[in-house]
Amino acid sequence: MSSNPDFSDSFQQALSASRLPKEQASSLPADCYHSENILQQETEALFRRHWLGLGRADRFNQPGQYETIEIAGVPVLLISDRQGKLHAFNNACRHRGARLLDGEGKCRTLRCPFHGWVYNTDGQCAAATHMEESLNFDKSQLSLIEFALEIHAGFIFVCFAPEPPDFKAHIGDFDQFHSPWPLADLVSKRRQSFEVACNWKLFLDVFNEYYHLQYVHPDSINGLYLKPDPGDATTGNYTTQFGETEGTGGLLESQQQYALPNIPGLQGRATRGTRYTWVFPNMAFAASKDAMWIYEAYPLSAQRCIAYQTLCFPQNAIALTDFDARVQYYYERFDAAVAEDGIALENQQKGLASPYSEPGPFSPSMEPSVADFTHWYAEQMMSG
Ligand code: FES
Ligand SMILES: [Fe+2]
Repeated sequence: MSSNPDFSDSFQQALSASRLPKEQASSLPADCYHSENILQQETEALFRRHWLGLGRADRFNQPGQYETIEIAGVPVLLISDRQGKLHAFNNACRHRGARLLDGEGKCRTLRCPFHGWVYNTDGQCAAATHMEESLNFDKSQLSLIEFALEIHAGFIFVCFAPEPPDFKAHIGDFDQFHSPWPLADLVSKRRQSFEVACNWKLFLDVFNEYYHLQYVHPDSINGLYLKPDPGDATTGNYTTQFGETEGTGGLLESQQQYALPNIPGLQGRATRGTRYTWVFPNMAFAASKDAMWIYEAYPLSAQRCIAYQTLCFPQNAIALTDFDARVQYYYERFDAAVAEDGIALENQQKGLASPYSEPGPFSPSMEPSVADFTHWYAEQMMSG
């Protein structure tokens, strides 16, 4: 592994310790959680180089439906064109760079708010006034800048790199571990975002480990989760761990009687637990017997992130006449867990922000996915 000339020797040594087998590895240097300089390195080494998970594709199921999001300094416009094809564009006009759209909504065409250039939903420049005398105005050369986009198992993946890494290599043997769940068929219901005063990696760390359940969620969900299986050995840029549950992990312990029917086709242990998966760097999800919940996390600064939560259900549950009433209990469970995690994360951030904090060891059985991400992260950062 080559070294990154931007990092000090001691920082590189600490990153090397994060690349040891999980029984010996250390967590990342505390700088990785509060330094703006490290965030800049992450932006180059992770966010501008790798495939990023942007949640579910089915929220763009109508022509012209769009969302805007800022990802590590890149304003992105996700929009479904007239044929229903999803695009990820640089959200900036080809005239003098104004942002084209804000928020989310539905449109027939895009009109730049600055000087009125018009684009089709597939990114083609359609019209501009007062450009007759410009020798450089050629509409066909002025389509919106488009990023690579793949849809896999119903998830959107976008890559900013002009030459994206091979998507198949990115996703590796993902399908093998997720084949019991018909992921592509699950339907998005509630999607919401919230800011947390912690580094983006901490948000994903806590989602992917069982260790904190007993201490952070003692009365809400801890009792549902049995000791998990060991983390699975995977190929590709992801990690995953399955664990059995008592009832469903999608509801509070006290509200299990509102459980929705199982996802059709599930068999064996998949009907008795939850698979937690983290697709590096920024998206994680849990596939359970009755639902799937997904989080994307993006940095706002080194010490603040925005997270998007999406909850998905199978069509057979959504078709029930009392679905709208029963799904409220699922929402309650996620609101409760996010509130409890938020307190823990903001507290962790304060400790990690100390200039005297040092990396610590992992529990290989209770937080193998955190160790796997740490290992992957250290490799990406060291290669510069
Ligand atoms: S910047 Fe968009 S039309 Fe001028
Ligand atoms: Fe949690």
